Amino acid sequence: MKTNDDLFKNVIAHAKEYGFVFPSSEIYDGLSAVYDYGQLGAELKNNIKTYWWKAMVQLHENIVGIDSAIFMHPKVWKASGHVDGFNDPMIDNKDSKKRYRADQLIEDKITRYEKDGKTDKAAKLQQDLDNALNHDDLAALKTLIEEHEIVCPVSGTKNWTEVRQFNLMFSTQMGAMADGSDNVYLRPETAQGIFVNFLNVQKTGRMKIPFGIAQIGKAFRNEVIARQFIMRMREFEQMEMQFFVRPGTELEWYSKWKETRLKWHLALKPDAAKYRYHDHVKLAHYANAAVDIEYEFPFGFKEVEGIHSRTDFDLSQHQHYSGKKLQYFDPEINQSYVPYVIETSIGLDRMFLTTLCNAYEEQDISTTEKSDSRTVLHLHPALAPIKAAVFPLTKKDGLPEKAREVMDLLKFDFRILYEEKDAIGKRYRRQDAVGTPICITVDHQTLQDNTVTIRHRDTMEQERIAIAALPELMNKTVGWSSLLKELV
Ligand code: GAP
Repeated sequence: MKTNDDLFKNVIAHAKEYGFVFPSSEIYDGLSAVYDYGQLGAELKNNIKTYWWKAMVQLHENIVGIDSAIFMHPKVWKASGHVDGFNDPMIDNKDSKKRYRADQLIEDKITRYEKDGKTDKAAKLQQDLDNALNHDDLAALKTLIEEHEIVCPVSGTKNWTEVRQFNLMFSTQMGAMADGSDNVYLRPETAQGIFVNFLNVQKTGRMKIPFGIAQIGKAFRNEVIARQFIMRMREFEQMEMQFFVRPGTELEWYSKWKETRLKWHLALKPDAAKYRYHDHVKLAHYANAAVDIEYEFPFGFKEVEGIHSRTDFDLSQHQHYSGKKLQYFDPEINQSYVPYVIETSIGLDRMFLTTLCNAYEEQDISTTEKSDSRTVLHLHPALAPIKAAVFPLTKKDGLPEKAREVMDLLKFDFRILYEEKDAIGKRYRRQDAVGTPICITVDHQTLQDNTVTIRHRDTMEQERIAIAALPELMNKTVGWSSLLKELV
């Protein structure tokens, strides 16, 4: 019987073996919490981005997309609160010399209490943790760690340092001067690039409130502890959208976006029971509502996406720090105001991991005649890195040439793979393992009647169809329309 730990290890090993994700700079033994996407990972990642962009920008007439720079004026991060407040409470174990986030050590303890059926203890500790975090009370965090006898997972000892704050932003110098005056940060979120461009986009795009600005891009955080593969990285990508609304209407829009975003996840037909909302009890000082969409990874329910009602905090702060008015004149009520904002923010890498975990299955496909198994990625066809694989049954008799014709018919619209090595069964297995929804086999009959055998990934069923019918079949099965139509 496989444990969830084993399952997660297998997902990670699979991601590496098939060219989805590699440790960064692996020949130098890797770089902690930094990863590279391989030949299939890059395709899957691009497809997730495309799905998000089409759903958010293409399907909403009042949302536009931008691509702002990673470097921003240093004052941006003062205004946003990141210079003073983007901290994690950290604690070191003196024996193992390992560093941890104090709040996460406590959260892990809560999970353990829950697993052991000690729900009262778990609830009380959660309440004490919330209290300590709400009051930025580092001493209280240390007391909780001591009282609940939390030990270092590596050394097993309780020999802890005090809890200290640690700023998560990476900084570097811009230009030749290294005297500190040119200090810039690598952005820790993409959202601020949207806020500082609010007026540029509103005016040049003649946008009327309510409207949204979307962006996909890299973000950087010097995470105290990075673990669970691509779950918590130091360089990652976000897909964020800020929706600007009239003050007083924000909670209505918040509910709408909460629903819309969950629908986006569920349209991919995952196991819906693995999704849940987690309402924030402890709100950031600038928010008047916040929720996470969580997914049940093999290591438990964790946040994949956040939806936040951020009030007018960010625009007001930028107005204050820049001295520039960031207001909107609303002709319907004849008033100028600083708009309120609903934010939807999802980590692309975390969505990638969600997608992999959801899709991965080690399947027993034994029949009465023989025992057999396969590893299959049940990716939504629109997200699959390779949409179809074309196989000539043999390498001779003109079959490769005919298979190439089939490939040429499809390759301008879809990512197609051509493969002639190994027995057909083996070739099917390789494509199952990377989530290719359709395999197309060209055999001797094809030369007679221009038909091919289609084999479907999930059902493993086969059917014979005309080559001329392939483009329509592909559009129907792997094209974007059927997926996107579920969202409207
Ligand atoms: N602008 C709001 C914001 O950045 P956040 O909750 O800090 O909010 C949003 O981040 C999303 O970004 C998270 O839900 C998560 O999916 C992703 N994310 C955050 N930190 C990450 C990290 N270190 N590695 C991978 N993804 C991360």
